[in-house]
This record gives sequence, structure tokens and C-alpha cells, in this order.
Amino acid sequence: MTERFDFDEVFDRREVPALKVHRMVLGADGMDLFPAGVADMDFRAPPAVLAALENRAAHGIFGYETVPDGLMPALVDWLKLRHGWSVNPDHILRAPNVLNSLSMAASLFSDHGDGIIVQPPVFFDFADIIAENGRRMVTNPLVLSDGRYEMDLGGLDTCAADPRVKMLFLCNPHNPVGRVWSKLELAQLGTICRKHGVVVVSDEIHGDVTFAGRTYTPFASVSHDDALNSITCLSPAKSFNIAACCSAFTVVPDHARRDAFAAENSRLTVNKNNAFASVAMEAAYLHGGPWLDAVNAYIEANLALVRERIADVPEVTLIEPDGTFLLWLDFRALALEPEKLALFLRQDAGWAITRGIAFGEGGAGFGRLNIGCVHAQLDQALEGLIDAISKNRETLT
Ligand SMILES: Cc1ncc(COP(=O)(O)O)c(C=O)c1O
Repeated sequence: MTERFDFDEVFDRREVPALKVHRMVLGADGMDLFPAGVADMDFRAPPAVLAALENRAAHGIFGYETVPDGLMPALVDWLKLRHGWSVNPDHILRAPNVLNSLSMAASLFSDHGDGIIVQPPVFFDFADIIAENGRRMVTNPLVLSDGRYEMDLGGLDTCAADPRVKMLFLCNPHNPVGRVWSKLELAQLGTICRKHGVVVVSDEIHGDVTFAGRTYTPFASVSHDDALNSITCLSPAKSFNIAACCSAFTVVPDHARRDAFAAENSRLTVNKNNAFASVAMEAAYLHGGPWLDAVNAYIEANLALVRERIADVPEVTLIEPDGTFLLWLDFRALALEPEKLALFLRQDAGWAITRGIAFGEGGAGFGRLNIGCVHAQLDQALEGLIDAISKNRETLT
């Protein structure tokens, strides 16, 4: 019998200090807004994860622990069975979170002042990590062509050719434009980076959330040579909505780089085991598949709702995603400066979404909407947006 999951149930996320609904994010005057900024989902984790956590809590003793024997095999099987990627377990290092791995890669494999390539509009923390490590951000903007973002491979070749450029932060799938990069695109990127000695650090945290007919290709699975030139950052945080209760993994196939990573982990003593994270992750990878399929289908239904509701609204255009629960909406037809657009969305539409400009200059006039939420709430929020836009139209005419 197929298991059924109820994603329509509404939970009060304010019962815990959830960031998405916190005044830190919404502002003290924003507590009634539709909270669709922070990239997590409003659904309870898979039942198997909840049961594992309850069992672990019931044990009641939380002294020092090591990694459960089943965790790494569960991850390796997941990557193999779900994504066709055979990973040698010896190549996997544990990490506190994905951003930590990106930051460690930058500090270990580039020097102060070296360039790191990013392809904006892209997850804003990439820029912070580069700046905080004293590296230089080199931008190779994605190109929007016929409603779809593509990589500018010529531009990438030029950026990578600079000998002071040592690394590229890849976002695969790409937050915020929702592209699930094809094997061909990844192979082309990989070839350029290898040609110029640029290490690819691939953030694949969104890899499990893809829509029907779309396939996520782990960058390191493209070829043996690409694997050796890669550092892949993985985590079950997004896939199973357990960001506050998991850790992450770094896959480092190159021996010397892996040793350097392991030594740095040791120096920083980052690998303390959190029992709840361990059991949550193991249960998710072992038993979370059906839940993930169901949540992906639910998100895709939310996507269909957005598509349908804004079809007749020329002021807003959906950039069709291949995956992720983050939608990139084009509001440029409203002709509002980023500050004014944010105010309009907030005050008139009642939306708290992430400003497009936060992802780089090319994001001006766009916004990132999180659709990992209850369908009826999304519907209501869309109503608010459509009303606000039609009132705005009336004032202009
Ligand atoms: C692309 C991307 N990478 C990393 C993160 C954060 O990962 P972590 O919490 O494991 O550091 C996010 C969260 O929004 C993200 O979207």
C-alpha cells in the first residue's frame, strides 16, 4: 500500500524560534505577512524521522557518541539508488553544515586575494563566504534567454583563465533560478575548470528536490576527472526539512585535498556527534524516499498553482524551474526599483519574500518565493498579490 502524507495540515511555526517567521526576518511589524523567504518547508519531517527522534529521545542518555554504523551506508545507498552516483564511502567526510564546507574549501584551496567564480543570481551566502575569507568574488552571470537561465560558458572560460582564479562555487541545482543543470552543461563547465586549474566546489543541497522528468546529476558523477577536481557539499536539510536537526557531508575524491580537509576538521574539532542529527539523517536516507516523492509532487502542484494564478497577470512572470522549492519571479514589468518593489510586495501584497537583488545585481526586479508551504496558504497569498497588482494598475491608469 502506498503511504499517504498530509502536507495540507497547518502548523504554527512560531511554537519554536523558526527563522522564517521570526521578527529577525519578518521585522517586528511584519508578523502577519506571508512568510516565504527563508529556504525551509512548512511540513513536518517524514514519519520515519519523527519516530527515530522520539526513540532516541526516549533512551534519555546523551553522552558522547560516535556515528551510527548505518549512517554512511544509508547515504551511499541513497546516492547510488536515487541519483545513480557511486561514491566511495572513504571519500565522504562529515561536516557541520554545507556553508561550513564551502568556507573550508575556500580557505584551504585558495589564497588571500584569489578569485572564486560564482554565477549570479545565486545564493547570497556565497558572496559572504568569499568576502569573509578575504577572497575575491569573480562573477560570471547566468544569461536569461527565452525565460530560461543558461550558463555563459564563454564568460566562464574567460574568468577561469585568470591565473589568480582558483575556485568556482557551483550551485547544482541552482538557488534561486531553479535550474537543474544537465549532464552536458556540467561536463562543459567541468572541462573549462580543469583546463584552467579551477577547483569546482559544488553545493548540491537542493539535489533531491526535482520535478517530474528532470534529473539531478551530481557534478562529481560526470566523469572521473571531474570527480577528482571537485568537492561536493551535501546535506539532507532541504530534502527532508530537517535543517535544524542534521549535519552535512563533504565528498572529496582527491586524496591530497581530502587529507587537507580531514586535518582542518581535526584542527577545528568540528566533528562532534549530535545524536539527534545522526538518527534523523539515517532514518531519512533509509526510509524517507516515499515522503520525498510525495513532497516533490506537492511542491510541483504548488508550482502549477502559481503558474495558473499568474497566467493572466502580465506584471509577474514565472521563471519555470526544473526543481527546488524556490521560485524566481520576474516583477520587472512593474518597473519598481528594488526598494520600492520590496515595499510593494510587503505592504500591498502582504508578502515577505527574498528580494531578487540579494542574489546579485541581475536580480533587480525579481523576487524569490518559497513554495514549500501549505497549498491553501499559497493560494491565499497569490490572491493578495493579484489584488495588489490590479489596484496598482488602477492607480496608474
Ligand atoms: C544553495 C544553498 N546552500 C546552502 C544552504 C545552507 O546550508 P547549511 O544550512 O547546511 O549551511 C542553503 C540554504 O538555504 C542553500 O540554499
